[in-house]
Amino acid sequence: MITGQGITKTFRQRGGVLGGREVRALRGVDVAIARGGAVSFIGESGCGKTTLGRILAGLESHDSGEITIDGVSMASLRPRARRPYFRRIQLIHQDPYSALNPTRTVHQALTAPLALRARQTGRPKGWIDERAAELLGLVGLDPGYALPRYPHQLSGGMRQRVVIARALTVDPEVLVADEAVSMIDVSLRLGILALLRDLRERLGVSVLFITHDVATARYIGGDGELYVIYRGQVVERGPVETIISAPVHPYTQALLSAIPVLHGLEVPGGQAVTPVGALEEDKHDAGCLFARRCPFATGRCTAEVPVLGRTGDIPQEHACLHPERRGVVAMPAGRA
Ligand SMILES: Nc1ncnc2c1ncn2[C@@H]1O[C@H](COP(=O)(O)OP(=O)(O)O)[C@@H](O)[C@H]1O
Ligand code: SF4
Ligand SMILES: [Mg+2]
Repeated sequence: MITGQGITKTFRQRGGVLGGREVRALRGVDVAIARGGAVSFIGESGCGKTTLGRILAGLESHDSGEITIDGVSMASLRPRARRPYFRRIQLIHQDPYSALNPTRTVHQALTAPLALRARQTGRPKGWIDERAAELLGLVGLDPGYALPRYPHQLSGGMRQRVVIARALTVDPEVLVADEAVSMIDVSLRLGILALLRDLRERLGVSVLFITHDVATARYIGGDGELYVIYRGQVVERGPVETIISAPVHPYTQALLSAIPVLHGLEVPGGQAVTPVGALEEDKHDAGCLFARRCPFATGRCTAEVPVLGRTGDIPQEHACLHPERRGVVAMPAGRA
């Protein structure tokens, strides 16, 4: 179990006549990933998904908040002592082309971390090659074909499978798949998504799936939890299917209605939220962060900060002061 509580992160971007600006990438996010579970982060580009994934994988520092791994607070440990914990969380980079060293064969890419693993776990040398072949089989590659080859001799889909096999060399508990198929040829994407789903079932590994596309989130972790992130804040959280069938937060409704065909959502005309593409960063920070774009905003929304939680008989958590307005923008097809 990995948890993050109240995670905040501000980046200071350099440049400009005013000496740069601050970007509040995360504004106090709580997250929990249970063993074998699936958690998906969705939200438009720049909302903080990657930053949160990298912080949870120990690859990025955070300003405040606490991360625990299997009950152990990372803040209580020295950086060296954190390593074996963070090793349990492996990030699969979105770009399989830059993730692999072009001068090393697949055999070298896998056996280097496996040799370390063999020393750590007291396994004989013979295990290293056996395990490399086994891992390739697990990710759907023929070891005889893949092992002697260099990355440039493989397709994007095959490379991503090698990247996943390499992540598995350390027996991780969580795979963080950050837009893991966005740079792969469309025809090969489904295969990689199916592989991630399969690994969850076969290895019991948890998947943190980061995407801007709810259809892929549903495919990988339809039984899991969805976190909808807007400007560094979780605005809705709950079971994937619950949120897809009845999104509460107007931002979630806007996200879902942007791709209505993929998941059977219809957008009744009339009251539409500003299109997702136009929701660029703005300086408005008081009250609800979505207020300036929200068709349902009231005076209360610019004065009061909505806090993520449950209200009434709504099953999922949301951060909207007027949840009773849900269902106006997007609603499940056939039930309108
Ligand atoms: N290393 C960095 N330095 C400065 N700003 C950054 C850095 N990484 C991310 N940001 C900013 O933080 C915000 C969140 O980025 P990111 O987590 O990559 O979003 P997402 O993955 O949802 O697209 C963006 O405004 C981005 O420009
Ligand atoms: S709190 Fe108000 S402004 Fe924010 S999403 Fe809800 S209705 Fe819209
Ligand atoms: Mg990202």
